[in-house]
Amino acid sequence: MNDLKTLVEQAKSAFDLAVTPADLENAKAQFLGKSGRVTELMKGMVALPVDEKKLRGAAINLAKQAIENSLNERRQALADLELQAQLHAEALDVTLPGRQRGQGGLHPVSLTLERIESIFGSMGFEVAQGPEIESDWFNFTALNTPEDHPARSMHDTFYVEGGTAQAPNLLRTHTSPMQIRHAVQHVKRHRQAHGEPSDAALYNGDMPEIRVIAPGRTYRVDSDATHSPMFHQCEGLWVGENVSFKDLKFVFTDFCRTFFESDDLVLRFRPSFFPFTEPSAEIDIQFPSGPLAGRWLEVAGSGQVHPNVIRNMGLDPERYIGFAFGMGPDRLTMLRYGVNDLRLFFDGDIRFLSQFR
Ligand code: PHE
Repeated sequence: MNDLKTLVEQAKSAFDLAVTPADLENAKAQFLGKSGRVTELMKGMVALPVDEKKLRGAAINLAKQAIENSLNERRQALADLELQAQLHAEALDVTLPGRQRGQGGLHPVSLTLERIESIFGSMGFEVAQGPEIESDWFNFTALNTPEDHPARSMHDTFYVEGGTAQAPNLLRTHTSPMQIRHAVQHVKRHRQAHGEPSDAALYNGDMPEIRVIAPGRTYRVDSDATHSPMFHQCEGLWVGENVSFKDLKFVFTDFCRTFFESDDLVLRFRPSFFPFTEPSAEIDIQFPSGPLAGRWLEVAGSGQVHPNVIRNMGLDPERYIGFAFGMGPDRLTMLRYGVNDLRLFFDGDIRFLSQFR
């Protein structure tokens, strides 16, 4: 019977050597297959006498049983190993931080534009928007700046295909074209609503005042720490029958003091020149305290709307008069937050921008 014990041990070590299910099936065939070692032993019993046959048969069956047991054990072990490997491969590290959705925020210049809109909104100004690709007429000519006027050279810009030789398209150099666009619409709507003919004659009837701001992007060939080829402006326009320079001073002073949250802020209206205003003034501000105290800082151009511009709005300058201003929201943002390089606004660096969330 020793041969059976050896056979069982041999089978066990053959099974243990199998590292894949296929290995194990091969090993099984060697022992339990049709021409395997156990089957061979069974066949060998044919020649034995009957009572020996019984004993031998029972012994072989026990051995076969033992071999099947170790086969099943090994099967289970291999299945366990495979499961372990799979779990390991698909492991999740639950201690890793979860994926977060980055918290966005408004750009500092957008914050300023919102602030400007809400302050002027509280003073009864509408907000208008217009095209950044503008025609020569709206950007210059209608604003009393005819071709060859020397003031055009300060507004060098990018010319864009699609215009005509008479009216080239350009990237607007300021938001002032919105003075004309908005006023023309205002007059047209008013005339339509009151059944007035919209003929060429300048309008001198009754009409609600024009009170509007127009924020947006503007373009010039300029680039350094305080100038960017793309920058922002916000136009302001108030036209009525009795709107004077005094109103400009009041409105703009009120705006600046609210914007900078400083009742002691000082303003200076410095005589200047713009073709579309007469008289014209550059507006400077001075902070009473803080790092910028004592210096005059330019924040806007302004003036009383020129009669030729009032005409191009479709209004009779004998009846209608007003003021306009154009300020730089980028500049206001730099002053409000103490930013010293304009280019930071347009680099898109998250480390800078996230400070304004
Ligand atoms: N458009 C002028 C500029 O860009 C500013 C301005 C606007 C001046 C309105 C007077 C009136 O410099």
